Amino acid sequence: MVVRKHVVAIDGPAGVGKTSTSKLVAGRLGYVYVDTGALYRAVAWKFLQEGVKLSDKKRLRDVLKGMSLQVKPERNRLRILIGGKDVTNRLRSRKITGLSSKVAAIAAVRKFLVEIQRKAGKKGGVVMEGRDIGTVIFPATPYKFFLTASIEMRAMRRYLELKGQGRDVVLSEIKRDIIARDRRDRGRKISPLRRAKDAVLVDSTNITMREVVNCIVSKIK
Ligand code: DC
Repeated sequence: MVVRKHVVAIDGPAGVGKTSTSKLVAGRLGYVYVDTGALYRAVAWKFLQEGVKLSDKKRLRDVLKGMSLQVKPERNRLRILIGGKDVTNRLRSRKITGLSSKVAAIAAVRKFLVEIQRKAGKKGGVVMEGRDIGTVIFPATPYKFFLTASIEMRAMRRYLELKGQGRDVVLSEIKRDIIARDRRDRGRKISPLRRAKDAVLVDSTNITMREVVNCIVSKIK
């Protein structure tokens, strides 16, 4: 029997646990996982490297035109290559994080990344996480989930995650950054963060990651 492989769309705000959840769901289904936020971060990284001002639309479009961005989904991680160079580990700094949500509000950037994301999911067998996967990138997939959690819980989880990586972080700053990013991601004109009407809402404030994953996998199966 041939089992059709689908795209599972997981959207939600910053720090809600989308990446860890998506990796675990992909593992359970034997799918690969694609973190689309990494693509916006890659564009932010490139703009920083090239000294692009976000107000200079012509320059910005020229840089995008010449940008070779490759996405290599592997079983438990996603590699991002720019001009053939692996930049995956350079995309998580506070500076790139803040810039990525500004870059994500620019029409030319979203247009550039839409095709890359659709191509990455074309064959199915993908868990794709982001802000607009269920609303814009794969609106026809029947498997859509929208994760949510209280801002306190999201800030605390992100804080513990970064602390665990040995990073020197302050909880109140993380909370402030998340609130600012949410505002930009929800408030932008093109493809704002919102729940697709047919997405299953999963609130993880009071449940464990394992329970979130079980909930998603059981709905799919
Ligand atoms: O998921 P993340 O924190 O790595 O995403 C970084 C930024 O990219 C986020 O602030 C908003 C943007 N983004 C987006 O606009 N659309 C997506 N599908 C994924 C991310």
